[in-house]
Amino acid sequence: MHLSTEQKSQRSPVLVGLMGSGKSSIGRRLAKYLKIPLLDLDDYIVEKDGRSIPEIFEQDGEAFFRQLETACLREVLGKDAVIATGGGVVLSEENRQLLKAHPPVVWLKASPDFLAGRIHGDRNRPLIAGGEALADTLKKIEDLADARYPLYQQCADYTLPRGDMKKPEALNAIIVFLTHWKEQQ
Ligand code: S3P
Repeated sequence: MHLSTEQKSQRSPVLVGLMGSGKSSIGRRLAKYLKIPLLDLDDYIVEKDGRSIPEIFEQDGEAFFRQLETACLREVLGKDAVIATGGGVVLSEENRQLLKAHPPVVWLKASPDFLAGRIHGDRNRPLIAGGEALADTLKKIEDLADARYPLYQQCADYTLPRGDMKKPEALNAIIVFLTHWKEQQ
């Protein structure tokens, strides 16, 4: 595919991964480094709909949220911004095709153990809300990881193994990837 210089500069990284993997926080640092805005898909949805994510899930259900998510994904992809997506964005084939058409996609891969401690008790995340014990959250994340890892894998141009990696180190690894990736386009 031949792209003009302008089109190349518009190719912006899209971050995917499970809840709590750092898409928004690492995305914010990356956006600052690249001197482009951060576009957080969940924030975009909330702004567009006028309700919080838990309210949308509670009042209209997950299927409605997913429709909104796809519509919003279509609107934000291609913008000159770092795009931080919600953890479930890879669930639909339609979204996966959209993501593949807008590389580079970076998967922040983190283990359920790492994630459970970070997001346990977060009331803003309806899919893991409700469990009182950390073990309940861990089980939910493990189930999500089983279902979604292969989907993130399908979409990713680069997989960042979060592991124990601190945020500055993670940012650095993404910048190294992006530099190589851009050179190859
Ligand atoms: C979801 C993740 C959330 C949000 C919604 C559903 C998911 O985003 O989109 O609660 O299905 O994993 P974060 O990954 O930013 O928490």
